[in-house]
Amino acid sequence: MTQPTGLSAPEVLTEARRRRTFAVISHPDAGKSTLTEALLLHARAITTAGATHGKAGRRGTVSDWMAMEQARGISVTSAAIQFEYRDAVINLVDTPGHADFSEDTFRVLSAVDAAVMLVDASKGLEVQTMKLFEVCRQRNLPVITVINKWDRPGAEALDLMDEIRRRTGLIPTPLTWPVGIAGDFRGVIDRSSHEFVRFTRTAGGAKAAAPERVSAAVAAADEGDAWLTATEESELLAEENQDHDEARFLANETTPVLFAAAVLGFGVQHILDTLVDFAPAAEAREDASGSHRPVGSAFSGFVFKVQSGMNASHRDHVAFVRVCSGQFRRGMIVTHAASGRPFATKYAQHLFGREREVADEAWPGDIVGLVNASALRVGDSIFEGDPVEYPPLPMFAPEHFRVVRSADTSKHKQFRRGIDQLDHEGVIQVMRSELRGDQAPVLGAVGPMQFEVVEERMTHDFGAAIRSEALPYQIARRTDRESAEILGHDRQVEVLMRSDGTLLALFSTVWRLRNTVRDHPELLLEDLATGSPEVAAAH
Ligand code: G4P
Repeated sequence: MTQPTGLSAPEVLTEARRRRTFAVISHPDAGKSTLTEALLLHARAITTAGATHGKAGRRGTVSDWMAMEQARGISVTSAAIQFEYRDAVINLVDTPGHADFSEDTFRVLSAVDAAVMLVDASKGLEVQTMKLFEVCRQRNLPVITVINKWDRPGAEALDLMDEIRRRTGLIPTPLTWPVGIAGDFRGVIDRSSHEFVRFTRTAGGAKAAAPERVSAAVAAADEGDAWLTATEESELLAEENQDHDEARFLANETTPVLFAAAVLGFGVQHILDTLVDFAPAAEAREDASGSHRPVGSAFSGFVFKVQSGMNASHRDHVAFVRVCSGQFRRGMIVTHAASGRPFATKYAQHLFGREREVADEAWPGDIVGLVNASALRVGDSIFEGDPVEYPPLPMFAPEHFRVVRSADTSKHKQFRRGIDQLDHEGVIQVMRSELRGDQAPVLGAVGPMQFEVVEERMTHDFGAAIRSEALPYQIARRTDRESAEILGHDRQVEVLMRSDGTLLALFSTVWRLRNTVRDHPELLLEDLATGSPEVAAAH
């Protein structure tokens, strides 16, 4: 394997071993923004709370780019934030925090090596918590579960463990165990050292206070029955084989659990330590042919996200690349696997929300933003030396459909360019048919929020406001030309061609789909969800 700069593989391996690349995921409102901020604060990546994820009314935001996001106080787009903690380099890849599910979240999860799943103590596992657990399972992504808001009244800790086990199939292996009930929270037992970590409030989580640790003997004297109950419960967990086991965690059989109150900064440092101690480092990634390219080999990576207009004063097009192997050096010439063409990486950046820093080098596990990389599409691989192509990112089955037109017919050119660009970025799936014509493409989304992003981007980035109308379909199935002919006679079904050339038959209800299959068993009507049918179909 060539290593063009004379750099030795051991150096790449050392850097890769230091990397921890993860995403925080949760049902909305579980505290994802709060925890992200607290993690950075504890790692000293930022100095004041509120600098990362501005909620409406909070101070300036770093990762919320679009005006719409700022107005709503949510993060629609993804940022990658890098910081050092102990001797590790941590890459925190942000996921959209809104109520809908979007394809973006799925893609981010293909670029990370672990996930921190936040659960609201009083709500337990919610709809999106379940969907996300399922995606992690399919991607073999190790999950660290954080039970958040433990400062407030909530469910019994043992009941929550039961719920996790029953509903996700993962065995919870708590690393800490609460002393005192939710609402009258005294602290946690660190189950590995048997010390007591006292719950102290740091107002607003604005200060990164070091947690106070005392011995079991002191805790027993101070906390009395609460300590006794907690230690008994902890022993019970040990008897039931619910202690952390690294191999089982990495094999996705167990999930380490931590109890936290992110808004008060409690448990946050333990999350960072858990990431460094237990989360996997960047490792060899499987390519499309099923072989693994070693991290020590020449540079390679894949695009998991493409984005334009991140900076209103500086319109550009950024392809986010997850480095899989080797050293990335700014200015290096790589090969774009899809076209076989050389690609210059002169403008590479690390992105810290809106702040950008020139990236001179990056290592396996890191995320680099390649600016003005308009040739790169989501899922594309780039490499140096021996060719490699990583598996395509799954396209999910759209469940929401709208037909769109340019609000101003004289702007058709801008309209066309905008729709193509958003398609290219993977913001939305674009479908067309001869019947509807080029002026009226149909957009398909996994979550309806994607349409709002389209509307906003079309108006502000492309100067082509749109009119749109919801279509009454909920289900898309892959079909072929022969079947499409027959389906064309059914007024209840519409067949469209997606921009990747896939023919999609759209149905309004499962009942309709079943009727069609019953009447025409010979038709090709395939489930679209490549490798993940349950998730795409789940509601
Ligand atoms: P999200 O990104 O997952 O949607 O959640 P976010 O961090 O915005 O948190 C949702 C709400 O939960 C916020 O309150 C936040 O302050 C609160 N919260 C987060 N962590 C904790 C915790 O550990 N304990 C308690 N008690 N609350 C927590 P909000 O009133 O919606 O917003 P804000 O005005 O407080 O920012």
